[in-house]
Amino acid sequence: MAAKRLSNVPESGTVKIANIVSKLKQDGITDIISFSMGEPDFSTPGNIVDACKASLDRHFTHYTPSAGIPELRKAVADQAQAVNGIPCSPSNVLITPAKQAIFMGICSLVDDGDEVILPDPSWGTYEACVRLAGGVPRYVSTHTGTEFRMTPEAVAEAIGPKTSMILLNTPCNPTGAVMTKDEVKGVADLAEDHDLLVMSDEVYEKIIFEGEHTSIASLDGMFDRTVTINGVSKSYAMTGWRLGWAIAPNSIIKHLNTLQTHSLTCCVSFVQEAGVEAINGPQDSVNEMVREFRARRDLVMKCLDEIPTLNCSTPQGAFYLFPTFDHEMSSEDMAAYLLEEAQVAVTPGSVFGPAGEGRLRISYACSRQDIIEGMGRIKGALSKLQSSVK
Ligand SMILES: Cc1ncc(COP(=O)(O)O)c(C=O)c1O
Repeated sequence: MAAKRLSNVPESGTVKIANIVSKLKQDGITDIISFSMGEPDFSTPGNIVDACKASLDRHFTHYTPSAGIPELRKAVADQAQAVNGIPCSPSNVLITPAKQAIFMGICSLVDDGDEVILPDPSWGTYEACVRLAGGVPRYVSTHTGTEFRMTPEAVAEAIGPKTSMILLNTPCNPTGAVMTKDEVKGVADLAEDHDLLVMSDEVYEKIIFEGEHTSIASLDGMFDRTVTINGVSKSYAMTGWRLGWAIAPNSIIKHLNTLQTHSLTCCVSFVQEAGVEAINGPQDSVNEMVREFRARRDLVMKCLDEIPTLNCSTPQGAFYLFPTFDHEMSSEDMAAYLLEEAQVAVTPGSVFGPAGEGRLRISYACSRQDIIEGMGRIKGALSKLQSSVK
């Protein structure tokens, strides 16, 4: 029994795997290496935790304005201006978890039958939100020759009379691809030429090893048609705090705020004060985490080199690999096989769109020891399978 709008919307594939792993661990099966988590394994930096405790000690424990506390909206706007070049003010910022911002942004802007251009592969929540809003996902293949970067040429081919929005995610979950400035600029030109809205999900912005991040809203004329999504989850190891934001012109942000007033009301008060410390406080722990992610990226690529039936190019950002596997089975069956045979949890590529079939997402947001152990187990399990490569 469910409303029709849910008929095309499965549970999040990434959260589903994470839930299975938690349940297995709860049931006492503890020898599982999880490459399924989309979250840093580091502790939230101490200065942020202390700011939260101080907020609680001051009993800052009531509702806040729905768009967020003024100090945090200002911190977000100042950072977006200074670091990303987005011409925004605090009134353009709505504080809400990043996933909620995507959900409310798409529900606010996408009408029945509107087409939304999405990279293929991409994070499954985009497609789910587009469908919930009554829109139609229009996937753009990114896997031929451009190492998963969504090119303006491919976007141009997908634009049609019903297109209303282009969705970008750079660095990308699940591929780690980082779009070049020219590519972002090319997509911006298309959005202007065809009068399209843009949603730019930049939650992995700080986790880049090669290349540089370009915020599409910083490009000439783009602020007025762009919703930028960001948050503290990935950069500051704060996934459980549920804090993020949307930045958009007032004509758009007011609609997200309307939805927020009827759903979340506001983000947790003392978490918002901790968020001010995350943004305005010392950034050394962010730099340290990124250094460690780079070392892990290099390590996991080295381990991958030793597995003949898994292949992918080196990701430039985020903390995921998205290799192909040369075995005759679906990605869902392969993920199930690795969990059963090797006690290693990975996410089936199929949850990231049509181009994900035949691939696995391996999150290396875990210790170096787990990477070595887990990749070794995968190698052993795959060598037991008949390779489909002649
Ligand atoms: C691409 C992408 N965007 C947004 C989010 C959601 O972030 P948050 O947990 O801060 O809501 C995630 C989380 O995995 C993600 O991978």
